[in-house]
Amino acid sequence: MLEVIRQRRSIRKYIRKDIEKERLNEILKAAMFSPTARGLRPWEFILVTNNEAKQQLSTATPYAGFAKEAPVVIVICYDTTKGNRFKEDCSICAENIYLEAANQGLGACFIQIAEGTEGSVGEPEAFVKNLLSIPEQYRVQCLMPIGYPEKQPEPHKDKEFDEGKIHDEKF
Ligand SMILES: Cc1cc2nc3c(=O)[nH]c(=O)nc-3n(C[C@H](O)[C@H](O)[C@H](O)COP(=O)(O)O)c2cc1C
Repeated sequence: MLEVIRQRRSIRKYIRKDIEKERLNEILKAAMFSPTARGLRPWEFILVTNNEAKQQLSTATPYAGFAKEAPVVIVICYDTTKGNRFKEDCSICAENIYLEAANQGLGACFIQIAEGTEGSVGEPEAFVKNLLSIPEQYRVQCLMPIGYPEKQPEPHKDKEFDEGKIHDEKF
């Protein structure tokens, strides 16, 4: 497991190759097997493959430009009527997507759509909701473009393990 965690990087360049449906399903299973507060599973996943829609999504924030290059963009949304820990739930589920993508030899990247994303023109979340016809009670957690990486990323290194961040008993 630690090896997959070490290998997982944010991937922003993809080759032109579609993702097999079975692989995508495994990734979505990983997402839906995530823990959620009170087991409420507030998520919805929109799979965007249409070029025009991906192009539009890539303009949502200044940090989303590469989304149009991915064969699939998973848009993670949550239902605001399902408890009040949906952001945490969907962050964990984004990590499961990251990890299963890495496990499958694919690459993903979390693109924030949050209010106040620096340099955004307008409101990124409202833009995405309008583009994808997301009903009022749902919110957008993030975009996750997924594709085969253009090159193998550098894995995380042992030097990132910082013992100074670990505190015994008290801070
Ligand atoms: C909450 C969050 C928001 C992020 N937003 C963006 C983003 O908008 N665009 C982007 O290219 N990467 C984004 N990233 C990816 C980070 O830049 C990346 O995780 C970080 O640089 C560490 O690199 P690694 O994922 O390869 O370990 C985000 C990651 C997180 C966890």
